Amino acid sequence: MAESTTTITVTVNGTEHTRQVAPRTLLVDLIRDDLRLTGTHIGCEEGICGACTVTVDGQLVKSCLFLAVQADGKEVTTVEGLTPKGGTSRLQESFRDNFALQCGFCTPGMVVAADALLRENPDPSEQEIKEHLVGNLCRCTGYLSIIDAVRAAANQEVTS
Ligand code: FES
Ligand code: FES
Repeated sequence: MAESTTTITVTVNGTEHTRQVAPRTLLVDLIRDDLRLTGTHIGCEEGICGACTVTVDGQLVKSCLFLAVQADGKEVTTVEGLTPKGGTSRLQESFRDNFALQCGFCTPGMVVAADALLRENPDPSEQEIKEHLVGNLCRCTGYLSIIDAVRAAANQEVTS
């Protein structure tokens, strides 16, 4: 028997999409497989690693634990939505300049989470950055360079 579907309309990075989705379709699968926004990564699929982090109506969400139907009528922002056309954001440049990525697998989720922090707290302390990024795991960097990158981006925002 064919699985029933629901019509949803989701705005992703400013563009509205209407789709038929199965009730159990995950937001991360809609983003990656249907919309082809592959900057959002899938790691653990259990809400632990944070590689799949996006925002939904401004709130950080692990998109591997969020159903597509829950995003109906909402605004989703992925890492692509934070990246200027043909360039990189100040935060992304700060990750590069501070050697805050190696394999890069965790980086989109880190950038989305750090961007959300800087929007709500433009000058976070080291402790605040650590607490905010507690849901994003990195197997490569040891975290210090990631914290440095967020601090450096914050300093640029504050002094510019
Ligand atoms: S893939 Fe979603 S938290 Fe790891
Ligand atoms: S840079 Fe490799 S997992 Fe973070």
